[in-house]
Amino acid sequence: MEKNLQYISREDFLALPLEDKRPYLERPGGDGEPFHTLFAQQFDRPLLERLAALANRIRFMAKTKEGALFLKSLLTHKRAMLYFSQPSSRTFLSHLAACQILGLTTGSVRDTATSSEFKGESKEDSIRTFSSYFDLIIMRTPEKGLAEQMAWELSNSDRPIPILNAGSGKDQHPTQALLDIYTLLRSFENKGGLQNRTITFCGDLLRGRTVRSLSYLLTNFPGIRQIFVAPDAWQVPQDVTDILSAKGVAWEKSSDLRGNVPQSDAVYMTRIQDEWDESKGESAKVDSSRFKFGQEELDLLPKDGIIMHPLPRRDEIATCCDRDPRAMYWRQMRNGMWIRSALIAMTFGYEKQIMGF
Ligand code: NCD
Repeated sequence: MEKNLQYISREDFLALPLEDKRPYLERPGGDGEPFHTLFAQQFDRPLLERLAALANRIRFMAKTKEGALFLKSLLTHKRAMLYFSQPSSRTFLSHLAACQILGLTTGSVRDTATSSEFKGESKEDSIRTFSSYFDLIIMRTPEKGLAEQMAWELSNSDRPIPILNAGSGKDQHPTQALLDIYTLLRSFENKGGLQNRTITFCGDLLRGRTVRSLSYLLTNFPGIRQIFVAPDAWQVPQDVTDILSAKGVAWEKSSDLRGNVPQSDAVYMTRIQDEWDESKGESAKVDSSRFKFGQEELDLLPKDGIIMHPLPRRDEIATCCDRDPRAMYWRQMRNGMWIRSALIAMTFGYEKQIMGF
């Protein structure tokens, strides 16, 4: 039987291992591309390479008026809702810009105090309401599983529209991982590719959702070693390392950033996620002074190594690094717009038309 969210109960779907959920989330009649985008586990290497190729194509087309107008003509008949009940700058704006590139019109709720949630409406009912007026929901919420539950709900409603997860609690941030992979692919494009690299994650690896999603996506490339550098209190959680071990990926934990920089092809810095503190001032009690990237680390970074950060940063990357050609965080941001354009175009089945332009 065709794997589709309409043919599986909500409970059975939610209980599946993440990788087994992929076929249920694909675009009906498509070629393995996502309809709902909920987890990093939906992307394998061929799909990542298709997305990167599409993002490259869009990036080049957008440079000319003719190309930009063609892109803008593709989805003028579609509307997207940006539902962000957690703070966001880049993820919100780059999705908005991606919609604009492809001609979608957009609506947004950025603060539930301005929507009927304030009057006591459930998030589920709110999202269902959006589906009455829009053709795509891009959502960020503090709840872990809401995007997934709503994907099932909408696929089983009379308005089965796609959901794109723009950050689900501490759990997943699949489109950030896509832009991170796109940045890595571009950075190592003429330098032997992304395989056999050492990627060092540093900072709050426990509560940072970008790390969970990117760590998984990296398993699609052979020979990648992952090093997790963090204070004990914020070390990478076991669900992440269990996946790596099961896939035979080399990984290690460390508390020494400086010692690991010389052997890193990419250092992925993250912010302390203190919005998740369970008691006031909890994070401030952790000594994070050795988990910052400054001039000393920059001097130790290999010539072709790169520094990444999902942003926003606080002081975990010193501003003296900003103009170094190895600082990739500004480019990451712009790459987000291109890869999200590619993902939205794919979601609506426009990959071939763009690649054939
Ligand atoms: C990240 C997030 O929201 O998880 N930001 C982003 O989307 N670029 C990282 C963070 O907030 O630290």
